[in-house]
Amino acid sequence: MPVSFTQHSLGSRIDQHLSGFLETWCALVSDPDVESAYAVLNDFVLGGGKRIRPQLCYWGWRGAGGEDCEEIIRAAAALELCHAGLLIHDDIMDGSELRRGRATVHKTLAGLYEGPGAEAFGQAGGILLGTLSLVWSDAMLSSCGVDPPRLRTAHHIFDAMRTEVISGQYLDMLAQLRARVSMDEALTVIRFKTAKYTVERPLQIGGALAGASGELLDAYSRFGVPLGEAFQLRDDVLGTFGSSAETGKSALDDLREGKRTVLIAHALRRASPAQREHLERWHGDPELTEERAAELRRILLDTGAVAKVEEMIEQRVREAVTALIEAPIAAEAASALAGLTDRLARRTR
Ligand code: IPE
Ligand code: IPE
Ligand code: MG
Ligand code: MG
Repeated sequence: MPVSFTQHSLGSRIDQHLSGFLETWCALVSDPDVESAYAVLNDFVLGGGKRIRPQLCYWGWRGAGGEDCEEIIRAAAALELCHAGLLIHDDIMDGSELRRGRATVHKTLAGLYEGPGAEAFGQAGGILLGTLSLVWSDAMLSSCGVDPPRLRTAHHIFDAMRTEVISGQYLDMLAQLRARVSMDEALTVIRFKTAKYTVERPLQIGGALAGASGELLDAYSRFGVPLGEAFQLRDDVLGTFGSSAETGKSALDDLREGKRTVLIAHALRRASPAQREHLERWHGDPELTEERAAELRRILLDTGAVAKVEEMIEQRVREAVTALIEAPIAAEAASALAGLTDRLARRTR
């Protein structure tokens, strides 16, 4: 079966499980205001997203010899609810207005009501809906129907994944407070906030549900960590140089927020005194104009920081590809994962 067809039907099966699950839980509280809030969450979950983590979870299962079945689709879909909760919280913390090409959840909630308290209400509501999505994600995984001993092992990895991503997000926020961030610190942040959470752990959760050996779980890690880092490095480049049509986010967010990315760490390391002064003056200015942003992008290019990050992406993709070739997994899963490798590193849809 061609991979593209498999991925396509996989995506719609994941969405069917998500929509059935949300429908059941949304029926629990019958109150018109709560129902409008649930509708916002429903639209956010079902209205976009590449479904990377569920796909990796599915192929982690198949790679470990699991047969295609609805139990693994339900487990994989649970990861998307976790992701949705984390994104909703992230957008509040980052002050982002655009996600997946639409208003972020906290902005949408603020827009439902009028008055001076609407913005604060939107943020509070977003914290609650994000938390609800995280809670439902746990409920969905726990009820996927896979054998209890395997589910217990997978759930433990799920717990580790949530610990790692939340800790990575914490370090990411903290880095913003600091004037400088070293390359090692920037790499630690992306390993925890993205690489483990987006690639390594979803594959291992799928694998553990299918009863994978420790050897295979380790192989998923050798493949997943470098690929996940490459994915975040690409996200950093696109976050500053990509169009919002491409990313669904604003190309000013990272610069205005003063995000301490690997890209910025490289630029600061290689900048001339004048370039460093300009970067330090404008990076992180919440009112940054398009013109100033263009100057910052110029510095990122002229210092060779962009070329360096591209090189880091290539290096990590090579590492991931080698790990995949050496991994003891079934041919169909290997070919699906090779296709995903390309999509994640280059962000082709
Ligand atoms: C965005 O993840 C958050 C990062 C870790 C970079 P995705 O790029 O997978 O977001 P969606 O789900 O497709 O919107
Ligand atoms: C990242 O979301 C969210 C998580 C890692 C959970 P973004 O796509 O906004 O990426 P950042 O905020 O730039 O890391
Ligand atoms: Mg963000
Ligand atoms: Mg963030």
